[in-house]
Amino acid sequence: MKNFKKIAGLALAAALAVGTLTSCKAGSGSKLIMATNATFPPYEYVDGKTMKGIDIDIANALAKKMGKKLEIEDVEFDSIIAGVSQGKYDFGMAGMTVTPDRKKNVDFTDSYANAVQSVIVAEDSPIKSVDDISSKNKIGVQQGTTGDIYASDSPKNGGYGEDAVVKYKSGPDAVEALKQGKVDCVIIDNEPAKAYVKANKGLKILDSAYANEKYAICVKKGNDSLRKDLNKALKELKDDGTIDSIVSKYIKE
Ligand code: ARG
Repeated sequence: MKNFKKIAGLALAAALAVGTLTSCKAGSGSKLIMATNATFPPYEYVDGKTMKGIDIDIANALAKKMGKKLEIEDVEFDSIIAGVSQGKYDFGMAGMTVTPDRKKNVDFTDSYANAVQSVIVAEDSPIKSVDDISSKNKIGVQQGTTGDIYASDSPKNGGYGEDAVVKYKSGPDAVEALKQGKVDCVIIDNEPAKAYVKANKGLKILDSAYANEKYAICVKKGNDSLRKDLNKALKELKDDGTIDSIVSKYIKE
């Protein structure tokens, strides 16, 4: 009896292990696993216990069009590309900017949004424009984002150098540091910047924008069938006005 229990237990454990392996693995027929980093309103954020935002709504609409079930995993931003290229997630959608470097590791769909990098400062900051920022400042960024990449670049390439940059796990963490005076400014995408400034007193966004970017969905390199299916569904959602109506639900100009 004891042995039987043990064997049954082992069999159950093995079945569970196989079950988790297959259910966690991306690329399994009827389900799409998306990776995001839900600290980035209005694209993805956590409201109570649910993830909300433009990317979440677009992803759901895409999955519906493709006849698949969508599962969303909320992970660190700088682990999305690695996870997608290892096949842990089918795709990454996280207000992610297309860059030549990222293209070496993943493939991107057509773009579904434009963005610019903005600079957030305290209302009474001596930094009045982007030109006032120098390597002497402490610049807060979300680790692994384009804001981080630009700011960390050498001054001769238009950045401020690694020593000037303080990297945080999320945009809200960087903004919190700004409020506490630990950094002099935060460089981050314009829409999240607006959302953070709205949610926190005493902050403002500098008029001059920093860089223009395009957001797209990343898939594993060479996963052309998924990339094409996503592009087809994206185009349909653009053409029938779904994308516009999702965006205007979250961004009111
Ligand atoms: N657009 C920037 C980038 O691609 C920031 C994206 C951050 N996204 C997020 N969900 N936290 O690097």
